[in-house]
Amino acid sequence: MTDLLIPMPGNEAMAQALALSLGTELGHVELHKFPDAETYIRLLSDIDARQIVIVCTLDRPDDKILTLLFLAATARELGAKTIGLVAPYLAYMRQDRRFNPGEAVTSRQIARLLSDAFDWLATVDPHLHRYSSLSEIYRIPTEVAHAAPLISEWIRANVQVPLIIGPDSESEQWVSAVAKEVGAPYTVLQKIRHGDRDVEILVRDASSIADRTPVFVDDIISSGRTMIEATRLISTKTTKPPVCVAVHGIFADNSDLLLAKAGARVVTSNSVAHATNGIDIGPLLTPAIRRLSAHENHHNGRG
Ligand code: R5P
Repeated sequence: MTDLLIPMPGNEAMAQALALSLGTELGHVELHKFPDAETYIRLLSDIDARQIVIVCTLDRPDDKILTLLFLAATARELGAKTIGLVAPYLAYMRQDRRFNPGEAVTSRQIARLLSDAFDWLATVDPHLHRYSSLSEIYRIPTEVAHAAPLISEWIRANVQVPLIIGPDSESEQWVSAVAKEVGAPYTVLQKIRHGDRDVEILVRDASSIADRTPVFVDDIISSGRTMIEATRLISTKTTKPPVCVAVHGIFADNSDLLLAKAGARVVTSNSVAHATNGIDIGPLLTPAIRRLSAHENHHNGRG
């Protein structure tokens, strides 16, 4: 059983909701930036011999990871029995291959750092494209929750006569599952990425688009270029305003505003806190945390 949930800044709402559903105490940490931009960290809750869980979603990870690692190391020094990480969004998963000579495969490097610092990891729909599971790169027990059933539920309740559209072949895994649960047809577009902010989208089959509300489903909206281009293209095939649903709304470059300007209704899960959050993934994480904590109890002979 988890004894203490500690939110990193920005994760308070998620940690509070999880603490409530798990019946767990909420912990506190004091963070302060020194004038030289180094970080002061102080754990304000009792840590000794307790099962600790740190809640830290990992969008914009470079600003967070060092503090997160310091915090986990401090909890370890103060006698934490186990330290779990709840990272609803798991960073760096898209750099999963050395695409050019000399490149860092940062998905592996982050996995190594987090596996050294934590005893387990719970996350939601990590970008598994060239890896088949997190265990290929993480050495600790992991639980992956899937948002597809909640996305389907949201579409069923909010969109009449939808056509589920995947903006690229990588999204087919989510799109096919969602379409099946919604009971709607789906199609997958073709994406050619020329650069970070330069994508080209092609429609392979436009026959089913005209009479239905286009609902794009993807795992991540980052620069937003995938969704913006897909929205732009689909608006030449139908007059119905599109809906863009993503598990993780990173929204770099004000892409939330650009998508709204393009006439799209945007909905995301609360894996990253944002005004577009309409799908609560907390209920997916609660059982995952329970299972991982029980596994650790068993492992530590406490169970
Ligand atoms: C890529 O394969 C992902 O599924 C998303 O389509 C992509 O990460 C979105 O990125 P962006 O918003 O920068 O186009």
